[in-house]
Amino acid sequence: CRESTPIRYDTQRECWDIFRYEDVYNVLKDPATFSSVRPIKGPVLLGSIIGMDPPKHMQMRGIVSKAFTPKSIEELGPRIASITEELLNAVVNEGATNLVHDLAVPLPVIVIAELLGIPAQDRRLFKEWSDSIVKGPDSGSKEDMHRLYLEREKTRHELDDYFLKIIAERRNRPEDDLVTKLVEAEVNGECLNDMEIVEFCILLLAAGNETTTNLITNSVRKLAEDPALQAILYDQPALIESFIEEVLRYYSPVLSLSRYATKDVQIGNTEIRKGELIIPWIGSANRDEEKFADADRFIADRSPNPHMAFGFGNHFCLGAPLARLEAKIALRILSNRITNIRFADHFEFKPIRSPFVYGVEELSIV
Ligand code: HEM
Repeated sequence: CRESTPIRYDTQRECWDIFRYEDVYNVLKDPATFSSVRPIKGPVLLGSIIGMDPPKHMQMRGIVSKAFTPKSIEELGPRIASITEELLNAVVNEGATNLVHDLAVPLPVIVIAELLGIPAQDRRLFKEWSDSIVKGPDSGSKEDMHRLYLEREKTRHELDDYFLKIIAERRNRPEDDLVTKLVEAEVNGECLNDMEIVEFCILLLAAGNETTTNLITNSVRKLAEDPALQAILYDQPALIESFIEEVLRYYSPVLSLSRYATKDVQIGNTEIRKGELIIPWIGSANRDEEKFADADRFIADRSPNPHMAFGFGNHFCLGAPLARLEAKIALRILSNRITNIRFADHFEFKPIRSPFVYGVEELSIV
């Protein structure tokens, strides 16, 4: 499909699908022509940085990334390891482990909740909100979409109330957490206002949880599919980082992004009109034979590996160091505990039904 139809118009969803690496790359690197600003805002990501263009995007990202540096993420390592140990200790060791439920879902949720400074007793609520904002429609019907919209609107109100309370508390009594850092962060004398902080907190829920869950499950799935890989990683533990990069390329947790043309523009031989919606398929770009030799083969030590699983350009994923660290720690601890990871008997793959994310609903391993 990518070779014969590198670009196609989807008449149902009324958008241009872009499949080749080079085209996706060119779209993502040119925010002046391919904007991230949505013409219609949904209730969830009304005005967070993911839906902004330069120069406002750079300014806002500058403020939040100060509270989100690779160094501060690196310091979370020991805590991520102890959460992983605790979660795995709680799993009954006889029989199969439901990896999605037991580890891959709760780990990122707990990490983000702790990062933000959410009290432990509120974590369940936090997970429900997190699910509600990323949940897709059961079908494409109008009623279904409307129901989803109303549900998200309700969640949005609950989240606003919840975070505004926490922000007010941190303004009075600072703590060692991300909300306090966001309250205090300043660039050129400018701070974030309360609603901007709320938007960013919600973005972390939406962008950071399911994606990381899928990176962890896709990694363990690959190990269970290919026992030789487990032996390679056992002999050469340093390969874990390139293994994770290859999982990101091969089973990209995020499949597609969206942009809007700010003017009439040509991609390849295709004319795209101002205002039209463009879907850069990073999942497809990451398998493009013109960019990756043997693109459909999983090569644990592939180098270089310029995949775009975390996007590219000005919106490159702010949480990439955190996602990589969580996956690395989870895999290290899991493979110390289970030396020969296999799928449980009668386990059946059920891919998540979504055009945007790639993962499995359940992963039963022994
Ligand atoms: C942006 C993927 C984990 C926070 C993005 C984008 C992608 C992505 C593709 C670019 C969106 C665009 O260009 O429109 C992923 C994947 C993850 C992951 C595959 C896990 C494997 C996380 C985590 C966090 C996070 C753990 C935070 C806790 C963000 C934020 C942005 C973003 C804040 C917006 C950056 C901006 O607009 O400047 N992510 N993400 N992500 N991600 Fe991630």
